[in-house]
Amino acid sequence: MEAWRRETRQAPLHFVPTMGALHPGHQSLISRAARQCAGGQPRVLVSVFVNPLQFGPQEDFARYPRQLEADAALAEAAGADALFAPSLEELYPAGEQELTRIQPPLSLQQGLCGRHRSGHFNGVATVVARLLGLIRPDQLLLGEKDWQQLVILRRVVADLGLPVEVVGVATLREGDGLALSSRNSYLNADQRLQATALPQALEDANAAAQRPGTALAPLLATVHEKLEQGGLVVDYVEAVCPISLQPRSALKGLTLLAAAVHCGPSRLIDHVFLMSRAPIVAIDGPAGAGKSTVTRAFAEQLGLIYLDTGAMYRAVTWLVQQSGVDASEAAAVAPLLEGLDLQLSTAAAGQQRVSVNGHDVTEAIRSPEVTAQVSQVAAHGCVREALTRQQQAMGERGGLVAEGRDIGTAVFPDAELKVFLTATVAERARRRALDLEQRGFAVPALAELEAQIAERDHLDSTREVAPLTQAADAVELITDGLSIDAVIEQLVQLFRQRVPHDAWPEPVA
Ligand code: PAF
Repeated sequence: MEAWRRETRQAPLHFVPTMGALHPGHQSLISRAARQCAGGQPRVLVSVFVNPLQFGPQEDFARYPRQLEADAALAEAAGADALFAPSLEELYPAGEQELTRIQPPLSLQQGLCGRHRSGHFNGVATVVARLLGLIRPDQLLLGEKDWQQLVILRRVVADLGLPVEVVGVATLREGDGLALSSRNSYLNADQRLQATALPQALEDANAAAQRPGTALAPLLATVHEKLEQGGLVVDYVEAVCPISLQPRSALKGLTLLAAAVHCGPSRLIDHVFLMSRAPIVAIDGPAGAGKSTVTRAFAEQLGLIYLDTGAMYRAVTWLVQQSGVDASEAAAVAPLLEGLDLQLSTAAAGQQRVSVNGHDVTEAIRSPEVTAQVSQVAAHGCVREALTRQQQAMGERGGLVAEGRDIGTAVFPDAELKVFLTATVAERARRRALDLEQRGFAVPALAELEAQIAERDHLDSTREVAPLTQAADAVELITDGLSIDAVIEQLVQLFRQRVPHDAWPEPVA
């Protein structure tokens, strides 16, 4: 494996760890791993190792299906370049007793499978850390089906500072809803039929959760009852926050409803994400950090509506300038907001059009004159109130990414993901010069642009109403030296850590 690794050092390496008994769910992980990435065409390594450390004494280690030949063929068909199937002695040469163990935080193991499979996640974390150390991949791909495992391994990678990107991949299901799992192979025809009660009960709960006023405790009790009525033996039915994995007492934001049952010889797990509205992403940050460009592309990639609130403030600034009123006087600006008809729409080519009171101002709001005055206009309380109200109304159903200065703090404080996208003043001045040049405007000296940007930052962060600040729960992303594609990739990763494919699938290309 080390020799192979040396030979393939040039290409990015994507790694799919498995315990074998591969099925189409694993194959979708492998084909996702084989997809072109920002660093080029990756190599894909699949490992097959039935890890004794993660099985309890009463569990199915001895009878876990072992079918290396078939696995090799399935992995290759899905796009794997290599299969690594070490023996127990190769992976743990000094024996299990002498092995350094990884213990992920207990808070992440207290509920769900952690409570019912003592030591399981320590075993998973230990083997994955060992494999990562040997293989040194750029990406680690894991199924969202084992959501608790995914959350825990992300945490292990973060806490140990392991240089690998963790990518979660959507759960694959049979036509009748049963999630694919190697353990489905233990089921006979009757048990296989019985097993569908699991996804069915969870989906019913999902439908019930959409109805306003649904209480969580009776919902959990109903799931429990339906599973038992379906002939399944329930291990747990729990509702937790999908990130902290702490129990939820009420339906709030995105909730992970997970269950484990025994069906004949198999222990099956499944989950559903309950949500009252589609996800919202808030991207804030100072002027010129490249927010619009990356937000637009990110929105398109994830099928979210792009809400460019900066364009809305620009449109009002344009209106103020056209009307000839004093932009510094809130009292002069306020009457323009009464009956304001401000529309954002997406043209056929995906480009956003902006209109104000029936005028298409898409181009006009990008002029240096508007740029010079937008901070001043946006600082008036009346302007912020009017536009915040409109933005919140647009966000009621969710499914959008909004970009601005106060999205995560004032407009959508409940956003699932908040990012503070920023770059140094020098970097932003350089980008601004390039942009002005490309659009045929005169380009001031870099020092002058830097001074303008620093002044704009100062105005934005010291204004009284909704100043530019980083929300306490926002992730800071500094974009100096990063390509646009790399920033978008990071945003997608951050989104997927919080919003799984089940809750918000990616649009079909
Ligand atoms: O999900 C699995 O198959 C296993 O837990 C893993 C990640 C391969 C570790 O043994």
